[in-house]
Amino acid sequence: MTLLTEKGERKRMALLLLLTGVTALMHFMLPTEPLYYHEMHIVLRKLFYLPPLIAAAWFGVRGAISFAFLVSAIFCVHSALNWPGSLMEQATLIGELASFWVVGLVPAWLLERQRLLLGEVANANEETLLSLVSALDLREHSTRMHSQRVREYTQLLTGTFDLPEKEVRDIGFGALLHDVGKIAVPDHVLLKREGLSGEEWAVMRRHPEVGYGIVKRITFLREAAELVYAHHECWDGSGYPRGLRGDAIPLGARLFMVADVYDAVTSDRPYHSAVTHREASRLIREKSGSHFDPAAVEAFLNVGEKEFEAVRQRYRDEVA
Ligand SMILES: [Fe+2]
Repeated sequence: MTLLTEKGERKRMALLLLLTGVTALMHFMLPTEPLYYHEMHIVLRKLFYLPPLIAAAWFGVRGAISFAFLVSAIFCVHSALNWPGSLMEQATLIGELASFWVVGLVPAWLLERQRLLLGEVANANEETLLSLVSALDLREHSTRMHSQRVREYTQLLTGTFDLPEKEVRDIGFGALLHDVGKIAVPDHVLLKREGLSGEEWAVMRRHPEVGYGIVKRITFLREAAELVYAHHECWDGSGYPRGLRGDAIPLGARLFMVADVYDAVTSDRPYHSAVTHREASRLIREKSGSHFDPAAVEAFLNVGEKEFEAVRQRYRDEVA
């Protein structure tokens, strides 16, 4: 793990350096005599355990090594200046020095292992979801990449907003699973090319709610379920199933709407040929303020064609 990658990590690093500095200052300034000062000095010395321990939690093994080294260096200077005559006290100091490394490195190693295991669980979840949506895409579109492309397009748009990492991840899962409710739509309705009857439309229009019911049961997808529920809501209130309007529609769903239409018009389908990025942009701009949130359209226009093209190449359709 790199030590100084993001703003948050730099802030944490500054805090930890401050804590180390204050601890060192207190240790150097507090006299060791009379006895009650000496006792306080010994207690405050224990604060030196904190920087390697916190660094282990925040920055992993490399962080723990860096701060164990820093604290050891400060501690060595102080000990050398006040080197005790008693062998027992000398042994205590050396033991304390070794403890900084144990306190930093053991939790760092355990936490690293935990991160690795959590990463494996996250990968297993991701692969399971991808298999599910690939199967759904194959059934409806005869291709298996639609949902993955839509997730990537949606995330290009979320990238233009300053959103927390968790929200971006939740929006991505929602985009990936948006049509999971179509599992309850029978083939003769889902695959019908000509116009649907009123009754068939009613069946089709239930899929966001059915999808919401499926996804919200999974704890880590609870936020994503909101996007699934709202992925056919339009900015002007003309969508379904709840007829939400404007900001009442979750941001992720508003961004997804643009991404979904973009993928639909730029992909070859049995009933239409793919249009160019330029033409798709024109179609999307035309529906700003009616079908789409103007902010979502602006986000779309702020992303370069090359980025969309890169996603299209990475998730190219393989016709079954
Ligand atoms: Fe849908």
